[in-house]
Amino acid sequence: MPLLELSDVTVSYGLTPVLFNVNIAINKGEIACLLGRNGVGKTTLLRSVIGLNKVVSGNIVFDADEIAKVPTYKRARYGISYIPQGREIIPYLSVLDNLKLGLTANRQKSNRIDEVFEFFPMLKQHLKRQGGLLSGGQQQQLAIARGLLSNPQIMLLDEPTEGIQPSIVQEIEATLRRINEEKGITVLVVEQKIDFARRLAQKFFMMEKGAIVAQGRTSELNDALVHKYLAV
Ligand SMILES: Nc1ncnc2c1ncn2[C@@H]1O[C@H](COP(=O)(O)OP(=O)(O)OP(=O)(O)O)[C@@H](O)[C@H]1O
Ligand SMILES: [Mg+2]
Repeated sequence: MPLLELSDVTVSYGLTPVLFNVNIAINKGEIACLLGRNGVGKTTLLRSVIGLNKVVSGNIVFDADEIAKVPTYKRARYGISYIPQGREIIPYLSVLDNLKLGLTANRQKSNRIDEVFEFFPMLKQHLKRQGGLLSGGQQQQLAIARGLLSNPQIMLLDEPTEGIQPSIVQEIEATLRRINEEKGITVLVVEQKIDFARRLAQKFFMMEKGAIVAQGRTSELNDALVHKYLAV
């Protein structure tokens, strides 16, 4: 049984539908990527999984529970962590206080803040700094670290490499892989960087106009598909 399964999920903004009968399934321990051009509905899909967009029809099952009508804060406690596009750390709070926010959704209150320094040693040197003073890449790492502190079963990441310098993109890729391998956390990542997605994920979902139009192993993500659905 998949850890996360969306069945015929339809989502609208007002009267305008933006997701149409979306079906995706992700197994425990997998890294999956969600691909597609600007405006196809990738963010809306992640937001509907965490409950920030209401599902008009269809079902979302997480860890054998139906969650489509469960409020967002409870979904976080079920073990779903959402790292939004643009990171959304609190700029005027210190790095440490930003990290502490991650503990509020922690199911078992087990994680200690120290644990994330294994994955993000950089943060330890900046604990007292205001989050907003970190570089874009460091803010992204802070956002992922905060998500990790909620002790998730799955992390949903929305374009974690957007606008970030290449060396940090590589670090983020390596760290996500370690988080997956060492902590067994399942990952669903929205990405525009196709090479990043191919290297990191085992499985892909391709979206166009609010629908899943192709899916498979990333090893099968050939140039024809990329050209058809991603190239401008
Ligand atoms: N709050 C909103 N109200 C109305 N329409 C919205 C809202 N947010 C997004 N949309 C529309 O819904 C569609 C899907 O948007 P979404 O942000 O999910 O796309 P995306 O694939 O994440 O795009 P990008 O790659 O630019 O991040 C777009 O047509 C967008 O204009
Ligand atoms: Mg988006």
